[in-house]
Amino acid sequence: MTAHETPPVTDWATDFDHTHPDWAARAHEIWDDLRERCPVAHSDRFGGTWLPTRHADIADIARDTEHFSSVGVVVSDFRPDIPPPVGFAPPITSDPPFHAEARRLLLPAFGPKPIAALEPSAREFCRELLDELVRDGAATVDGAVGYAQHIPVRLIAHMLGVPPDDGDKFRVFIHNILETPGRDDDVPVDQTLDHYLDAMIADHRANPRDDLIGFLVDAEADGAPLSDEHVRGTVALLLIAGIDTTWSAIGASLWHLAQHPEDRRRLVEEPELLPFAVEELLRAYAPVTMARLVATDTELGGRRLEAGDWVLLPFPAGNRDPEEFDDADEVRLDRAQNRHAAFGLGIHRCLGSNLARMELTVAIDEWMRRIPDFELADPAAVRWSAGQIRGPRALPLRIITS
Ligand code: HEM
Repeated sequence: MTAHETPPVTDWATDFDHTHPDWAARAHEIWDDLRERCPVAHSDRFGGTWLPTRHADIADIARDTEHFSSVGVVVSDFRPDIPPPVGFAPPITSDPPFHAEARRLLLPAFGPKPIAALEPSAREFCRELLDELVRDGAATVDGAVGYAQHIPVRLIAHMLGVPPDDGDKFRVFIHNILETPGRDDDVPVDQTLDHYLDAMIADHRANPRDDLIGFLVDAEADGAPLSDEHVRGTVALLLIAGIDTTWSAIGASLWHLAQHPEDRRRLVEEPELLPFAVEELLRAYAPVTMARLVATDTELGGRRLEAGDWVLLPFPAGNRDPEEFDDADEVRLDRAQNRHAAFGLGIHRCLGSNLARMELTVAIDEWMRRIPDFELADPAAVRWSAGQIRGPRALPLRIITS
C-alpha cells in the first residue's frame, strides 16, 4: 500500500472512508444501505468523522451554524489552522456574521442577468468541443475528458480573468485539494494553487482589468479593503467550487443518458423537457458532499458529537431519501416537484447555481443536438472520482449511427 492509498473498509457504518475507490464506484448503494441500518454512521478515520444519510439530518446540520462550523469543509487528517469566522476560502469557509458580507460581495456577478449574457459564448464553446470530438469520425469518445471537463474551466477562467489554457493546472490543484486532501506535502511550492493565485492577483493589481479578480482587489467589506488572504481564498474557492462540480454534473448526466435510450429520445422529441431534466439529473446525480466541523458538543440521531469532529453532509444522499422524494431512486426527467439539495441548504447554498444550471443545460442541449444516440463503450472503463465531489473522470461513449 502506498502512502496515497487508503486501507480497505471493513464496515461502512463504522469505518467508512469517502476517499476510498469503492465509495467512488458505488456511493448510492452505500448511502441507501446506511440510511436503512444507521442513519448516522461514524468512522475513526480523519480523526473522527460522522456521516448522516437522511435528508432531515443533513438539512438540520446545514442550517445549524451554531453547532456546526464551515471553517473546515473538506475532510482531511488535519484541522484547518485559520480560525473562524473567515476561514481559508470565504464565503464557503466563513461562519456568521462574517459570512453574509463575504457572500454579498459576490452575488451580483453570479446573478441571472450576467450569467444569461454568457450563454451564447458557452454554446459556441460546446459546439467547438463537439466539432473536435467527432472531427475524425471517431466512433468512441470520452464524454468526461473530451467534453465535460473543459466547459466549466472555460467559463470560470473568463469570469475571473485567468488564462483558459491553464485548465490542466487547475485540475491538478483541485485534485490535490479534493481527492487527496491533506496529502499534498510533496507538491513543490511553485506548483501550488496559492503560488499560482498570488501571481495572478499581483498581475491584476499591476494591470487593472474589468473581471472578477479585478473587482475583488478593489472591493471593500465593512468599509475596509479585502485582505490579500480574503482575495486569494475567494478566487481559490471560485476555481475549486466551479470546476469539478459542474464537470461531474455534466459527466454524470451523459453517463445516465448513455444507458437510457428512452430518456435520450424524450430529450430529442420534447425539448421543452430540458429544464426539468436538468433538475432531475442534478437531484439524482448530485456531485457535492460538503463537510462541517463540530463547533460545540451536540447530539445527532442519538449519537454524541464532540467539538472538533468532522461531519460529512452528503447532499446527494439526501436527494435519494425516500422520505423526501417519491421513487427517490428512479430518474424521472419530467419530475415536477423537485426541491432537491444538490446546491446545498441554508446560508451556504450554492452561489454559482445560475452559472452551473446554464452550463449543464447548454452542455446537454448541444450534445444531444450533435450526438443524439450514444451508449457506454465499456461500462467497466468508467471511473468515478473519489472524495467529496463525485463524477465520472473517464467516460468512454460509443456514438450510435443508424
Ligand atoms: C453542478 C454544479 C455545482 C454544484 C452541484 C454545487 C454545489 C454546491 C453546494 C452543495 C454548496 C454548499 C456548500 C456548503 O453547504 O458548505 C455550494 C456552495 C458554493 N458554490 Fe456551488 N456548486 C456547483 C457549481 C458552482 C459554480 C459553477 C460556482 C461558481 C463558480 C459555485 C460557487 C459556489 C460558492 C461560491 C459557494 C459558497 C457559497 C457560500 O458559502 O455562501 N458553485 N455549491
